[in-house]
Amino acid sequence: MMNISVLVSGGGTNLQAIINAVEHGEISDVKIVSVVSNNPGAYALERAAAHGLDGVCISPKDFADREQYAKALLAHLKETETDLVVLAGFLVVIPPMIVEAFPNRIINIHPSLIPSFCGTGYYGLKVHEEALRRGVKVTGATVHFVDSGTDTGPIILQKAVEIRDDDTPQSLQLRVMQHAEWRLLPEAIDLIAHGRVQVENGRTRILPEDIL
Ligand code: GRF
Repeated sequence: MMNISVLVSGGGTNLQAIINAVEHGEISDVKIVSVVSNNPGAYALERAAAHGLDGVCISPKDFADREQYAKALLAHLKETETDLVVLAGFLVVIPPMIVEAFPNRIINIHPSLIPSFCGTGYYGLKVHEEALRRGVKVTGATVHFVDSGTDTGPIILQKAVEIRDDDTPQSLQLRVMQHAEWRLLPEAIDLIAHGRVQVENGRTRILPEDIL
């Protein structure tokens, strides 16, 4: 059984996709041991409560400095015996102390095909605004391991989504969520839970399912 803590900041639609996948069996051998938000008003915490999950707010604003915040978050992850940290719409930069404590055991969902439209300042709707401004014909989402950079860790899964001429940033964001994010994140968690993601030289290999 792999214990996961899901870190959230907002609406929690990616968290909901994970909850649904666990409840419907698309993710197996996984337990959501904690939902952690930096934002006490995050609707994601209501989603967690509605499914009987432990939701907690650990916010940088509640600590004297980044180091105290990092220590509190790390203590929580250890107390809950977290094996994998899942960033699901989480808008706080993960402190180096956490990245070091969870090498290739933190994953993030980013709403573009990395390395396009990613890095500092690229999050949420802004990513889709830039894709439309550039005029790309295809975008999508990426699940990757978190390393010391921003959106720079080994890529695990990607899924493409076509851009339509009449797309707005909002319509595009919704389609990328529906057709890419909400599918990729649960799939990545299930793959990792079953030891099917190998990392070598900064790249991943997805191992085939054990065919008996
Ligand atoms: C979405 O744009 C997602 O791509 C990004 O965070 C935003 C909100 O996600 N990672 P959620 O609804 O809170 O899961």
